[in-house]
Amino acid sequence: MNKVYLTTAIPYVNGEPHIGHAMDYLLADVCARYHRLLGDEVKLQAGTDEHGGKIWKKAEELGISVEQYVDDNVKKFRDFIAKLDISYTDFVRTTDSNHERRCQEIWRILSDYIYKAEYEGWYCTGCERFVTEKEYEENHGVCPDHQKPYEKLQEENYYFKISDFKDRIRMAIESGEMLILPEFRKKEILRLLEDTPDVSISRPTSQLVWGVKVPDDDSQVMYVWIDALSNYLTALGYPEEDITDWWPPVAQFVGKDILRFHAIIWPAMLIVLGLPLPKTMVSHGMVLADGQKMSKSIGNVVNPVDVLDRHGLDAFRYYFLRHVDTFADSDFTWEKFEDAYNNELANDLGNLVQRLATLAAKNNFKFEEKLDFEFDNEYNDLMTKYEFAKAFDYAWNKIQELNRRIDEEKPWSLAKNGETEKLNECLSGLIRDLLRANYALSPFIPGATEKIFEIFSGEITPPEVPLFPKDFVA
Ligand code: MSP
Repeated sequence: MNKVYLTTAIPYVNGEPHIGHAMDYLLADVCARYHRLLGDEVKLQAGTDEHGGKIWKKAEELGISVEQYVDDNVKKFRDFIAKLDISYTDFVRTTDSNHERRCQEIWRILSDYIYKAEYEGWYCTGCERFVTEKEYEENHGVCPDHQKPYEKLQEENYYFKISDFKDRIRMAIESGEMLILPEFRKKEILRLLEDTPDVSISRPTSQLVWGVKVPDDDSQVMYVWIDALSNYLTALGYPEEDITDWWPPVAQFVGKDILRFHAIIWPAMLIVLGLPLPKTMVSHGMVLADGQKMSKSIGNVVNPVDVLDRHGLDAFRYYFLRHVDTFADSDFTWEKFEDAYNNELANDLGNLVQRLATLAAKNNFKFEEKLDFEFDNEYNDLMTKYEFAKAFDYAWNKIQELNRRIDEEKPWSLAKNGETEKLNECLSGLIRDLLRANYALSPFIPGATEKIFEIFSGEITPPEVPLFPKDFVA
């Protein structure tokens, strides 16, 4: 049995979760469920990023204590993850004392490569990121993601000597030791790496108090990214615990907007810590609303609860895992969501289950075969390349094929003509293949697939209410 460690980016808790936040969780969850079906033991980390200027400012604006503010929002994220049925095993809050202590230990280990210097430059609080003069000019002084002017910062900070590790990181990326997916992002990162200066990794407490304290220096708190990236290690108890069974992560799921931190600062930290680099960094695209990134700062967010309320979790997972491309940006519109629900979930899968179960029940047909499930090579190949939307398509095609087959084989005519043996053979074949396709669908839509397995085990009873009723009113 292999041990597989998977991670998700930890969201800032400066507001409520939006549908874009679902992507890390869903992709990592599909991967986790797939590995569990292969017999692997899986740890899936999740958590919340609770420090930094953006959160501090928001709590201040609302006139509540920052502790209260993060507690309230963390609860919303935890509820969201539970609603998405994410099979996580570990949850890190960056304000948790275990995390903070471990994070300070990590800083101590890094300290040979940390130095103090005066910083003067541009910062985006939305990204919690310093930008280079070149980027500042290219973007005409305004962050394209948050549409807010960069702020000028002049302060004394600690720096991390990224420059010492550039060659080693480039080699790891080029050789595939740390695989960056998709391929075109890898090229972007290699270009960025060239231009990356040493990074500032602390803020003076005169400017920001809401952060993990730098060890042995009360005048500074850690830059939120050092704190946040460390969570992947502190989740496993590092450095107190031995993590060799689980380290390195098999895959880390992050949005393309934060790949730079994960593909440059993070490996540099790991190299100093003497730890192997993650095997794969899977960077997904953005869910857009009307062609724009969905973000709390822009205010164009779609509330996931609205989406879940319309047609439930299976429809949510179905849409975001099949119609939102795994790697490219995809627009969310209600129209596309409803189309997918009515034309695919309801028509393809819902109808197939209903038709087959009704036919079986009417003809007293029981499905008693014990199936040994295996994934097809093509499906495995797509899953191991993290092409989840394509693997989902592959399994869905089987459902569509079955719909065609049932129309061709016309089991209702066999029943009408009293051709029982042929009918049983036909139903066995169709149900067997439905259950096989259902198995391949199960990492994606675990709720619906579990119901389908139940419907077709032993005595077959068609569901009283179709799996995906077409009662939708916009
Ligand atoms: N706190 C950092 C991550 C630290 S990880 C050590 C952060 N937080 S975030 O809330 O801005 O984003 C959390 C995750 O959600 C990131 O992977 C980000 O890419 C993803 N998304 C945020 N908005 C998104 C969309 N509109 N669409 C898809 N993913 C999105 O960055």
